[in-house]
Formats: sequence, structure tokens, C-alpha cells
Amino acid sequence: MQVMMAESAGFCYGVKRAVDMARETAKKCRHSVMLGSIIHNANVVAELEALGMRKVDSWDQVRPGETVVIRSHGERKEVFERLAAIGATCVNATCPNVLRIQQLVAQAQEEGRTPLIIGEMHHPEVLGAASWSERSVILPGPRELENWLNEEPSRRNMPLTATAQTTCVQGIWESSKEILKKQCTNAKIFDTICNATHRRQTEAAELAAQVDVMVVVGDRKSANTKHLAEICREKCGRVVQIERAGELSSELFEGCLVAGLTAGASTPAGIIKEVYTTMSEEIKNMESNEESFEELLE
Ligand code: F3S
Repeated sequence: MQVMMAESAGFCYGVKRAVDMARETAKKCRHSVMLGSIIHNANVVAELEALGMRKVDSWDQVRPGETVVIRSHGERKEVFERLAAIGATCVNATCPNVLRIQQLVAQAQEEGRTPLIIGEMHHPEVLGAASWSERSVILPGPRELENWLNEEPSRRNMPLTATAQTTCVQGIWESSKEILKKQCTNAKIFDTICNATHRRQTEAAELAAQVDVMVVVGDRKSANTKHLAEICREKCGRVVQIERAGELSSELFEGCLVAGLTAGASTPAGIIKEVYTTMSEEIKNMESNEESFEELLE
């Protein structure tokens, strides 16, 4: 049995950039703060705290003069305004792909268009991007889009600017675009799914189709890890989502010839390596058990 790992498993460009910016800020500034977890990973958050960075859950816990790192998901427009009013300095580590959606929404607001975001209603990236216009509409997928258009047929002629959450499942976005193209007369459509996400999802689906068991590593709160696991479940009957190697059990690999491994965008390389090593060891143990059983039969 062998372990196959997806090439794009782990930190994406945007997360790596945000973590690097946070580390640099923690080292340079005496009073640094992260607003929420910089990424969905407790180890990275603990490392930054050890460097002296304070973690707060809300902008109103920030003190004047502190330097605040904004995570890769971005923040609501109001938060930037509040922080400036408090007298805090912002280090904006919003991923450039997320920034693009915020800019498209802001531009739609200026042009009198209605920004439409296909994404998770309560996801911080989506709420952040939506805040750049008071007209923003968030819809999770094609079914809700269809309902929204049917509720008020005049919406089909509205000037719309449509974008997708960067980690939106490609299929959901494609079906939503189909509806917009067929039914709406004035919709500007922007493909804003991040390439890293798209590549990761495609690779995960391809790998899941070839293996007997698929392991997806990432924080349970991470939306992109959850999506990865969903995509893998469509292709493979045995999929587990774990946070750490310690959650793996040998029963999981029983009767398997090939095991696959992928990881969400906020999973550090060290954790992926740990999982890969544990999987390889489990497999080696199983093989040596099988060999000794065969020797017994001889
Ligand atoms: Fe950015 Fe894509 Fe990562 S949007 S944070 S590069 S998953």
C-alpha cells in the first residue's frame, strides 16, 4: 500500500503572506495585535502570541497606538474605520484575491449596481467583502439565486455585479453563472474563485478518485478544508477530515491499497508532514502484520 499526497496541499500564497506579515509585525512592533485568529490554526496563533502579539476577538478591544494585523480573510469596512478612529495602525494582510472582491463590491456601490456574492452567508470573508456596499446581496448557491430572482422578477433587469467567495466550490459558481447569463439582462460577472483553491480542489478530486481512503487535514473551522472533504466524498467512499495525526487509527486503512492525503490552505507544513509520516507508518505496520500472518500460514 502507498500514500499519495496532493501537490497543492497546505498553505496557499495568501495565508503564507499573512502569516509572514504577522510574524514580522510581532517582531518589529512592541504593541501588536491580531484581530481574530490570523489563520485557522492554533499552533500558528500560539507561535505569534509567544512573540508578544496579543489576540483580540473584536475591534473594541484594541487600544490606541497598537498595530493591528488584519487576517487574510479581510475585515468589514466599518472595522477599518473604527480602528482608525481609535488611533490604531493597520497592517492589512488581506489576501489580494479577497481585496479584489472588496474592490469590485466598492466599485459596484459607486456605479449604482447591486453586488451579488455567491458564498457562505456568515463567512468572515464574505461579510467583509459585502460591507463595501450597502446594497450587497449574499446568496449561497444557484437554488437561492433562482429563488431570489423569482421573488421579484424585476431583479432580472437590475444592474448586478456578481462575484464568488474565493473558496466557493467551482460547481456551485458555474451553475450560478449559468442562471445569471440565461436570466439576467445586466449582470457583470467576475470569476473570483482563487486559483490556488481551484487547483487544490481539482487535485483533491482527481486524487480521491484513485484512492481507497482519503485523508483531509485542516482545522474544523476552516471553510476551505470542509469544502475539500465534501469534494473528496463525491469521489471516494472513505474520507476523513482530521486536525492532527493523533486522530488517525489503523482501522481506517484496513483493506486499502492506496491512501490519499490533502490539506486545507491554513494547514502548516509541519502538521501535514506529521500526518504523512503517521500514515506511512500505519501502512508499514499493517504490511508487516500481514507478512507475519502469511509466515504463520506457511
Ligand atoms: Fe488567498 Fe486563495 Fe489563499 S484567496 S488566502 S490565496 S485560498
